Amino acid sequence: MIDEHEHGYFTEPNSAEVVVARNKNAKDQRLAQVMEVITRKLHEAVKEIEPTQEEWFSAIMFLTRTGQICNEWRQEYILLSDILGVSMLVDAINNRKPSGASESTVLGPFHVADAPELPMGSNICLDQKGEPMFVHGRILDTEGNPIAGAKIDVWQANDEGFYDVQQKGIQPDFNLRGVFRTGADGRYWFRGAKPKYYPIPDDGPVGKLLGALGRHPYRPAHLHYIVEAEGFDALTTHIFDPDDPYIHTDAVFGVKQSLLAQFRKVEDAEAAAKADVAAPFYDVEFDFVLSRKKK
Ligand SMILES: [Fe+2]
Repeated sequence: MIDEHEHGYFTEPNSAEVVVARNKNAKDQRLAQVMEVITRKLHEAVKEIEPTQEEWFSAIMFLTRTGQICNEWRQEYILLSDILGVSMLVDAINNRKPSGASESTVLGPFHVADAPELPMGSNICLDQKGEPMFVHGRILDTEGNPIAGAKIDVWQANDEGFYDVQQKGIQPDFNLRGVFRTGADGRYWFRGAKPKYYPIPDDGPVGKLLGALGRHPYRPAHLHYIVEAEGFDALTTHIFDPDDPYIHTDAVFGVKQSLLAQFRKVEDAEAAAKADVAAPFYDVEFDFVLSRKKK
């Protein structure tokens, strides 16, 4: 006997309806909703693509390999989500900001929770490698008022495109990362080294897929930030070098127009002395605007 919710036998035209109806007794309504949408869209895709059995099996094997390469340090499914633009889409949906507030972008895998809090102005480049950079700006609310006591957590790749955690024993621990706190004027400033573009890990199935799609694995040079202040939404974002060769083709789609900073090359020795760096150096100015928490 067929239960009413079984919706009859499976046929090609009614495939999605039959599967969705079978889930009618799901206890979790959100799960039922998610599975309904995914089932509908997946069946629609399969009907449009009309894969051969071999093609279907190669898709299964791709997902199998994607899982098999995952371990404590390697998360290939996040990479897959990144290169499909899904990570940025989920970020956008969950971080809709009022106009005037700085935009968010992906956190990425290289944040370290226990980076040291440093005196304002510190040099976070602990091995003196690369071209010096002076980074400064203000933390503001959407009315343009400075935010005092804002916590700025910054991390960046070095001049060869590597984070300290990727080069343990080569770079000093906590190289090119630091936590700063603004004073009453909302200003921040610190010294670093100009970062370089870098590839996402491309020696696995996702890298192979990128290659097959004629895509490169690079992310344009950037600095990562988490900016937090009492009463405001936390902001997870990057700022980017607009002159980077990959600025228009970020492998993970993280670039937004509003996050392009200027990396201004300064030759002047007096300006360098004032910033406490060697000339020439890059002057990078960027103001972050935080949205107020909704009550
Ligand atoms: Fe990064």
